[in-house]
Amino acid sequence: MKLWVVLCMALLWVELQNGACQQVKRRKDVGENRIRPGGKRFKARPTKPKDGGVKVQSLLTQVLDKGRFLRLGPSITMTPGRSMELRCKGNSIGWSYPAYLDTFNDSRLSIKPSDKYSQLILTSPSAADTGPYSCWVIVCDGPECERDHDRTYASYIYFTDKDNFFVPSPVHFEIVYLRPDRPAVVPCRVTNPQAKVSLHREVPPEEILANGTQLTYDPTKGFVLQNPSPEHQGVFYCRAVTKGTPQISSKYQLLYVEVPSGPPFVSLDASPKSVGGGDSINVTCTVLGEPEVDVSFTWFYPGQGRRPVHIQTSWRLVDRGMSHTTRITRSVLTLEDMETIDFGNYICKAKNQNGETIVATTIVSK
Ligand SMILES: *[C@@H]1O[C@H](CO)[C@@H](O)[C@H](O)[C@H]1NC(C)=O
Ligand SMILES: *[C@@H]1O[C@H](CO)[C@@H](O)[C@H](O)[C@H]1NC(C)=O
Ligand SMILES: *[C@@H]1O[C@H](CO)[C@@H](O)[C@H](O)[C@H]1NC(C)=O
Repeated sequence: MKLWVVLCMALLWVELQNGACQQVKRRKDVGENRIRPGGKRFKARPTKPKDGGVKVQSLLTQVLDKGRFLRLGPSITMTPGRSMELRCKGNSIGWSYPAYLDTFNDSRLSIKPSDKYSQLILTSPSAADTGPYSCWVIVCDGPECERDHDRTYASYIYFTDKDNFFVPSPVHFEIVYLRPDRPAVVPCRVTNPQAKVSLHREVPPEEILANGTQLTYDPTKGFVLQNPSPEHQGVFYCRAVTKGTPQISSKYQLLYVEVPSGPPFVSLDASPKSVGGGDSINVTCTVLGEPEVDVSFTWFYPGQGRRPVHIQTSWRLVDRGMSHTTRITRSVLTLEDMETIDFGNYICKAKNQNGETIVATTIVSK
């Protein structure tokens, strides 16, 4: 009965003699040293090969079952549904992940820092979580902290889903703006990097062939059009094929725009042009600009703080012919029952990401 125990002991003894156990132990020691950064030791960075040579190993790992770790390379394919745990070594770590997870304030995502590493957990990942995940070491000099660009590790993670060849988008019909001065991207990203993807125009139905220069496909971005022009406008979709099965993406409306980027182009109008006491007036501040550029307005007027006004802001897209699209953003200030203090200068300040423009008009009593 006890024979097998004796046998095992004997085997173990042989193993020990061979140094197998010591080897295992030594390897463990090395590992422990590596994950003990402890403040100062962090700065005394191990000699980094500057002249090529050995590649810097990523500190971004995936925790597999049974405590095994997988160092993540530039991209990796994972199975949806199974919780993902990533770790990044260091006592002060920053993370980035697909913006989608923040937009929807997803409770599936959690980040837990600890002394030795930071942990990112994403429960029940799905095709929509496909995207770039990265971590970096935060270095602090007193109160000022910044990201160490040399120690930033990234991996593009595909959650390959046989029902979703394309990364689902929250919108079913996306608008892609084509500009003469920059490449445009039709963002049909795939969940399987091996999928064969093609771009198609809806009317007239035709496939647009990627030819490596003007049109290229990048599974992490989509189709990239190097030099968009008005003839690339229209409704498009992508088609992906994996293992002989095709699937099509949501649709994309490609619109050509040719509006210079800069501070808002503003005009200010009062209607009616001439008012008397007791009349009502609308003062309209109009901005013509690029379709996706938001504009905010600030008003200054004679009765500010003393008189009730109604301000309404709205915008719409207008096809301006010649296949160009413009966004018209308006702010209308309405004043009813004009009083003496209401006459004077009405100033509209319109602001976008590129700057601000101030325009004024004077309302005089008729
Ligand atoms: C997002 O989640 C945080 C923490 O759970 C919560 O405090 C916050 O109100 C949420 N924001 C939105 C917009 O749901
Ligand atoms: C590549 O494709 C684009 C878009 O269809 C086309 O405009 C361009 O002429 C093509 N270039 C070559 C070298 O075939
Ligand atoms: C001001 O604009 C509103 C909404 O467009 C309109 O109903 C109203 O008649 C206008 N008032 C004047 C005085 O133009």
